[in-house]
Amino acid sequence: MLYFFENFVLDPARRELRCGNALIAVQPQVFDLLEYLITNRDRVVSKDDILEAVWGGRTVSESALTTRINATRAAVGDDGDQQRLIRTIPRKGIRFVGIVQEGPSSPHESAAAAPVQMETAERTTPGWDKAKSAERRQLTIASCELLLGAENAGMDPEDIREILRSYHSRVAETACRHHGQVAHTYGNTAVLYFGYPEAHEDDPDRAVRAALDLVAATAALKTPTPLQTRVGIATGLVVVGEMTDAGSAQERGIIGETPNIAAQLQALAEPDVVVIAESTRKLLGNLFDLQDLGTKDLKGIVGPVRAWAALRPSLAASRFEALHGSGLTDLVGRDEELELLLRRWSRAKAGEGQVILLSGEPGIGKSRLTAALVEAIASEPQVRLRNFCAPQHVDSALYPTIGQLERAAGFARDDTSKTKLDKLDALLAQSATSPHDAALSSRSC
Ligand SMILES: Nc1ncnc2c1ncn2[C@@H]1O[C@H](COP(=O)(O)OP(=O)(O)OP(=O)(O)O)[C@@H](O)[C@H]1O
Ligand SMILES: [Mg+2]
Repeated sequence: MLYFFENFVLDPARRELRCGNALIAVQPQVFDLLEYLITNRDRVVSKDDILEAVWGGRTVSESALTTRINATRAAVGDDGDQQRLIRTIPRKGIRFVGIVQEGPSSPHESAAAAPVQMETAERTTPGWDKAKSAERRQLTIASCELLLGAENAGMDPEDIREILRSYHSRVAETACRHHGQVAHTYGNTAVLYFGYPEAHEDDPDRAVRAALDLVAATAALKTPTPLQTRVGIATGLVVVGEMTDAGSAQERGIIGETPNIAAQLQALAEPDVVVIAESTRKLLGNLFDLQDLGTKDLKGIVGPVRAWAALRPSLAASRFEALHGSGLTDLVGRDEELELLLRRWSRAKAGEGQVILLSGEPGIGKSRLTAALVEAIASEPQVRLRNFCAPQHVDSALYPTIGQLERAAGFARDDTSKTKLDKLDALLAQSATSPHDAALSSRSC
């Protein structure tokens, strides 16, 4: 039996906890506790229940119990503040409150799984580094650091530990959401890989989005003084996978300049800033608003490295335009397809409505062909409505519609809520939208 909740899968038969494709390394007792909570999610489990289930009835200290509960929360990206999945019911116990779906086990499911290490201290001996022989891969690496700040200098080590736990749980959650891997964590730092073991064409994009989200998530942590983080990102060819079991050598899972560049860019980044190397920027097109930080001389790297601060996702309408700008290569072939599209356009103009579904493998040229059609009919009167889906927004059902409305209303980056509302009202006033529907739209945007 498998248990699915959020992006996680708990597989008791294999004793595996996965988030997406990533296998999360957890201590045996943490796994036991999570399994016990999930299988007993219809009720509040008491301290005695947990002692019986996880420690076989032995008496353990209150703090050992609390530590395990916190570690269980951290493993699923939760913590004592949020209590999103594991809720404390005062004086009664705890309950798993996430929505769980059950499904049969499949023998193939974890074939490509790789573990995320939640904490250096809790490292198990993961199989991913040994199982894969050395490969040359293009990887985007994000090096993240939590800045504790001078105000926190005299803080009790126990409190600092709690802060680090919360930070690392945010790091793991953010990486998971953007399909990255927490490669390792050490103290107040973490290193994330995007592109290994699973590669995506938009790994640099995912890395920068994850870093920007991490900055926001760190600022939102509930701590006595606000926390800041900083991130350095670089992309490049590395050799990955060939590692030994010997503790210190495990850190050398990736060989190449890229981790070094990412770490040094992180070290020179201002608080709450994401600094990216030219190698990453080249692959991002206009997807993000950037600030040029000039060139930097980095230790151990030949030649200066140009650095950029990634400020925010840009307002570019489509990924195709953001990635290609105005520099499109000439259309090769596709005459027949373009002619077909133009014939359908003629029919539509004659009053015979047409719908065309253009589908094909990734990268085959759908967006390029659409751009050619737009260019071919540019001088003719038309109303163009464009709705774009994006892999980063699969969890936001209305994302394409919201984006379309925002562009049609002409939202600008610095618009206040009031200005946006006025623009939206002006847009909807052109249509027969009822005040009720207009109010609904304004909530979505
Ligand atoms: N017929 C063509 N002539 C010239 N360049 C092309 C042609 N078809 C595709 N390309 C180029 O190949 C690349 C991939 O094409 P495009 O982005 O249009 O693919 P896609 O099918 O829309 O991919 P995805 O499914 O990822 O959105 C782009 O750089 C595009 O300019
Ligand atoms: Mg496309």
